Parts: sequence; C-alpha cells; structure tokens
Amino acid sequence: MAEPLRVVVTGAAGQIAYSLLYIVAKGDVFGPNQPIILHLLDIPPMMGVLEGVVMELADCALPLLHGVVPTDDPAVAFKDVTAAFLVGAMPRKQGMERKDLLSANVKIFKVQGEALDKYAKKDVKVLVVGNPANTNALICSRYAPSIPKENFTAMTRLDQNRAQAQIAAKLGVPVRQVSNLIIWGNHSSTQFPDASHALVNINGANTAVVEAIKDAAWLNSVFVETVQKRGAAVINARKMSSAMSAAKAASDHMRDWFLGTEDGRFVSMGVISDGSYCAPKDVIFSFPVTIKCGKWKIVQELGITDFARKLLDATGKELEEERQEAIQIIEA
Ligand SMILES: NC(=O)c1ccc[n+]([C@@H]2O[C@H](COP(=O)([O-])OP(=O)(O)OC[C@H]3O[C@@H](n4cnc5c(N)ncnc54)[C@H](O)[C@@H]3O)[C@@H](O)[C@H]2O)c1
Repeated sequence: MAEPLRVVVTGAAGQIAYSLLYIVAKGDVFGPNQPIILHLLDIPPMMGVLEGVVMELADCALPLLHGVVPTDDPAVAFKDVTAAFLVGAMPRKQGMERKDLLSANVKIFKVQGEALDKYAKKDVKVLVVGNPANTNALICSRYAPSIPKENFTAMTRLDQNRAQAQIAAKLGVPVRQVSNLIIWGNHSSTQFPDASHALVNINGANTAVVEAIKDAAWLNSVFVETVQKRGAAVINARKMSSAMSAAKAASDHMRDWFLGTEDGRFVSMGVISDGSYCAPKDVIFSFPVTIKCGKWKIVQELGITDFARKLLDATGKELEEERQEAIQIIEA
C-alpha cells in the first residue's frame, strides 16, 4: 500500500468539515488505495468540539484513515501536508460590513500562507473554501512565495454543480448526462454561470445545451440568477449556509486536481489569472480548466458573446477591487 498522504482541513470543527472529513477519509478524493493522515485545524475555543469530531472519525472505523492530528497550532496543522482544504474562516455576522469580513479573513489567510510556506510540502495543492474564497486564496499565495502560484485555488465547484443540477432538472435528465458548465470569475453574486458551451448527452450523443433548451431568455436570466442566488436560498430555508453540498464540491475539486478530469469534460476552478479571456491578471479568477498529472490548464478559444463579455468584465472588476482592499488592509 502507498505511504499515507497528510491532508489538512481547517475549520475542522465547523459544519462543512463535518461532511467533508467523512468523504475524504473514506477514499473518495485521493482514491480507494491511498491511506491518509488528517490534520484538523481550528481555533482554541473549538478544541472541545473538535475532540468530538475526532471521536466520530475513530468510530467510523475507516480503513484508509491512518491517523488524525487535531490542533489549534498552524505549525502542526500544515507540517508536511500534500493537500490543504482551507475551509475555516470568520463568518459574516449581523451588521458586519463586507470590508470587516475581508479584513478578518485576509489576516487569517496571511497567517495560513506563511505557515504553508514554512511547513507544507512544496508541491502542496491548496483549495480555499472560506469566503471571500478567491481573494483569500490570492493573499494566502502571496505569503507562501516558495510554493508555485498555480497551487492556490478557490472553490467555484459548488456553483458549477448547482448550474449542472439546474440544467439537468430543466431537461429532465440525470445530472451525469450534463457537462461543461462554466463558472467565470468570483465566487460571489457577480459570478457568471455560463451554459453556452455545456453539453447534454441524449441517447449516447452530445447536443449543445443551448440547442436542447431552446430558451435563450431563460438561460440568460432565470438560470443565471438561480445559480447566483442559490446560496442565499439555502440559508433562507435551512437557516444555515450550504454545508453538505459545499463539502461534496470541495471533494470534487480536489479529486479532479489529483486524479485528473475525464476526456471531453472540463471543470471550473478559481486559479491565478494569466489574462485569458481578457480577465484581469493576478487575481484568482474562475475559469474552465482541464487537469492532467496534477496540473490544470485553462481551456482556450471558447467563444464569448457580448452578453458574456459584460458579465466577465463585471466579476473581474470586483476581483480587482477586492484585491486592492485586501492589500490595503494587510499593508496598513
Ligand atoms: N466557496 C464556496 O462555495 C463556499 C460554500 C459554502 C461556504 N463557504 C464558506 O466556507 C466557510 C466555512 O463554512 P462553514 O459553514 O463550515 O462555517 P462554520 O462557521 O460552521 O465553520 C467554520 C469553522 O472555522 C473555524 N475557524 C475560524 N477561524 C479559523 C482559523 N483562523 N483557523 C482555523 N479555523 C478557523 C471556526 O472556529 C469554525 O469551526 C465560510 O467562510 C463560508 O462562507 C464557501
């Protein structure tokens, strides 16, 4: 059997982690033959709760789980890790301005970037889930200069999965038959869920989703808004934010990054922008990517309509503003 991989999950006592740890520990992310050691980071007041999570992981009796390291010390949490799920973040509280949220979180991600730089493996793959995910990932990368920028990503897979589910429901087909939905830009309400390159497999043949749905107005309005506002709809109904679906998306993202995307399919990930599709450079922008041998590549030369261009520009502008605010906060 392979040597165990060390995998850190931050915010390990929180609600997303509660679903994510089980998915990771049972082998859905790194494969059924890959043992893992889970490093669980949370803040000191949560150590009691974390102890309960550790007990439950033991009680799951999972054959691939070769060890669990609960801690409130980033130096211990990030030591020798090959994969990092950065879920822990300061949640938005009532009356909190967006700037206050950004301020609290960029400081957390600066500390975690420094710890990754110092203690993690140099090829560590980092997925930021905690919001604002794109800008947190950018700050984290800035403070981990010895790790390639390509190794810092932000999660837009939940938005992609939501988009895929909406299209499948509209067409009345299983989700598996729908592919190549794109989420462009920021994981925020300015994100652009784009179905114009999506495919649906009907009776073994691929058809463009646009052709199958034949309702451009629905695709440009109801579909886009439903995906953009899905997080808020879940909070309204559940009184808590998406957790099971966020955990599933985080595991999808990391699995594809480690094990590769299927031929003919692409997925969306927030990655360091090289200016593809005229997106601003050096922000973490969600693009369609394919992955081989642990390396992602932005899918090129997809057509961009005038409608799409406007939305791509708006989400890019928001990311530039967030970057500027974050840098001001951190350098103050
Ligand atoms: N990118 C996405 O698609 C997506 C989707 C859903 C949620 N989120 C975000 O994920 C984050 C976590 O959500 P949740 O529902 O699990 O929240 P939660 O409040 O249940 O859990 C967060 C945990 O993080 C911990 N934490 C806070 N600061 C920390 C630090 N410095 N180091 C380590 N741990 C720390 C908290 O103590 C808590 O246990 C939130 O920021 C949420 O907005 C992102």
